[in-house]
Amino acid sequence: MLVHIKEILRDAGRRKYAIGAFNTVNLETTLAIVRAAVAVRSPVIVQISEKTIKYAELKPIADVIRTVARHVGGVIPVAMHFDHGRSFPAVRECVDAGFSSVHIDASESPFEENIAVTSQAVSYAHRFGVWVQGELGTIFGKEGLTKLRAGQDPSAYLTDPARVREYITSTHIDTLAVSIGTLHGSFRGRERLDLSRLSKISAAVSMPLVLHGGSGVAPAEIRSAIRRGIRIINIDTDLRIAFTKSLRRSLRKLQTNYDLRTYLGPATAAVQEKVERLMVLFGSAGKVNVSAR
Ligand code: G3H
Ligand code: ZN
Repeated sequence: MLVHIKEILRDAGRRKYAIGAFNTVNLETTLAIVRAAVAVRSPVIVQISEKTIKYAELKPIADVIRTVARHVGGVIPVAMHFDHGRSFPAVRECVDAGFSSVHIDASESPFEENIAVTSQAVSYAHRFGVWVQGELGTIFGKEGLTKLRAGQDPSAYLTDPARVREYITSTHIDTLAVSIGTLHGSFRGRERLDLSRLSKISAAVSMPLVLHGGSGVAPAEIRSAIRRGIRIINIDTDLRIAFTKSLRRSLRKLQTNYDLRTYLGPATAAVQEKVERLMVLFGSAGKVNVSAR
């Protein structure tokens, strides 16, 4: 059942767990994510990026999410989110397409410019009741590892707790993506969270905090982050790895088989299994009372 993201976050805030925001690219990944949510009775956020819009087109992929939420999700709350919108027009398109939440990512711009771009997105989105995620501090991909190796001070791009309040009061965002040491991509053992920074951010604000770059982060660190106020955890790479590994295995085994379903079925199941395990880790599994709905 498609719901507004605020409904999902209300319960997560009250009962102090995190919701997985899983990136989808097609029907298969959407089915996997929603089937996992149904299997473990978890609310879920399904999100798409600009790259996915280029690949699958906005309206078709939005309709895929909506229809899977309705016909597969049943009573499980599913929210639709636009991830890492880099410009106001991109965000506006997703607001118009019916998303209940959008991310405006101006995090690589200077502070004042980030505020200006984010505020523009907020004033448009709020006219339609759509929530906006802002980002303060930058979350890098593997270039972050290069920066660290080169000895660059990580506090140059991690979220500054002293600026968080001003950022929120100036922009009126609804959720905040923080940079506390994660990277986009899966770099097991090399993504260390700055938990004391997260505690300071949490103490400064009272809004749902979003952890990007969730793939590759150690489970113990994920649990500590949730205890310190993280309410959304973005996961993309781990799903792509699960899908692709399964696909490679099937293609190696079944070289003369041309039925796509023979490959895509197990790959979809592999993603579902990964999502289920993450939902247990995030504490969202079992939170939907199916009989009460
Ligand atoms: O916005 C998407 C996420 O931050 C995904 O990060 O690929 O490290 O899971 P990830
Ligand atoms: Zn991200």
